[in-house]
Amino acid sequence: MDPVLEADIRQQLDANRTRTGPPEGAVAVPPIPAGRYADLELDRLERERVWRRTWLFAAHESDLAEPGAYRRFERTGAPIVVVRGRDGVIRAFYNSCRHRGAPVVRDECGTARRLTCQYHSWSYDLTGQLKSVPDARSFVDLDYDDLGLVPVRCETVDGWVFVNEDPQAPALTDFLGTMRAQMAEVDGPSLRRVGTQLHHLDANWKAMVDAFLEVYHIRTVHPDNAALLYDDSTVTVAMFPNGHSRLSVAVRPELLGIMDPSPEADNPRVGQLWRETSTSFGWFPNIVAALDTGAFPLLCMWPIDVHTTELELQWFAPDWGDGPMPEEHAQRMTLFETVMAQDTANMAAIQRSVESAGARPFQIGWHER
Ligand code: FES
Ligand SMILES: [Fe+2]
Repeated sequence: MDPVLEADIRQQLDANRTRTGPPEGAVAVPPIPAGRYADLELDRLERERVWRRTWLFAAHESDLAEPGAYRRFERTGAPIVVVRGRDGVIRAFYNSCRHRGAPVVRDECGTARRLTCQYHSWSYDLTGQLKSVPDARSFVDLDYDDLGLVPVRCETVDGWVFVNEDPQAPALTDFLGTMRAQMAEVDGPSLRRVGTQLHHLDANWKAMVDAFLEVYHIRTVHPDNAALLYDDSTVTVAMFPNGHSRLSVAVRPELLGIMDPSPEADNPRVGQLWRETSTSFGWFPNIVAALDTGAFPLLCMWPIDVHTTELELQWFAPDWGDGPMPEEHAQRMTLFETVMAQDTANMAAIQRSVESAGARPFQIGWHER
């Protein structure tokens, strides 16, 4: 991390530890209407103006290691497939045959030489070009060049593959902005998937995002783990353009090093600040990247409907080479399940609140902004 930025974060962590009132520059945060979590019209607008127009995390490039490797991405309802071409480029298309709309891949992920529709076997190459049509004699003036798979914007930055259904969207690097450099030392391209954990939540997706953008709750909700490890009084938040953010909280000095991975599982590029704090980044709209040395999760909140969410924890760690995955990565995932059970326990009840006649705006604090 840039030494000036690191010094600034450390100074803020210290200042927050000892302050007795709101930090300098803090203001009263406007209350959040409860309808943000329950209103059907707002949910429809989110689908139209957020989910279909924003860069969304779809895969890590190591998920698509070989030419022809593909992975479906259907988290926003649209059928999308992300695939690596023979030229090494990762592209995305609607998984929708130009003949009559059937999918050109059916498995969740896999490897294909061609993308072949399983309805009438139209076949496309890995760049989406239509290559073969059975019984083509029955079609008049078939224009192969005009009947390729419909592309979806797909860009890869530092190993992270994103898609965006909006052809007019700014470049991914512009969207990520300054946050990208601040995350650089985790060295995305050197990572590899450890595993995935799924949780079904009876709550709006934003209620769960909120829980990962503050540590105000840890003394109450995580008294036996996070609250022991972190000094929540130090919490330091930064907000970036396009809705992204960063949160840092200091490890209690007497417990420094307790969570460090073994040298085999460690990410040697990660600097000291990361080892002395929990530093996570909020990737607008729905991901909290709890970057760390060793294994760490991207916490992904995917809406099912206005009051149902799938929480997907996608775990990554430094590539461990040809041997078996270091056991401690799996142990860290298992340990985290305890924390997640605590984090998700309030969600359904919160949703019942915001959908009740008793719903009132939420009064959040400056540190939760
Ligand atoms: S729908 Fe794909 S070949 Fe007919
Ligand atoms: Fe939590």
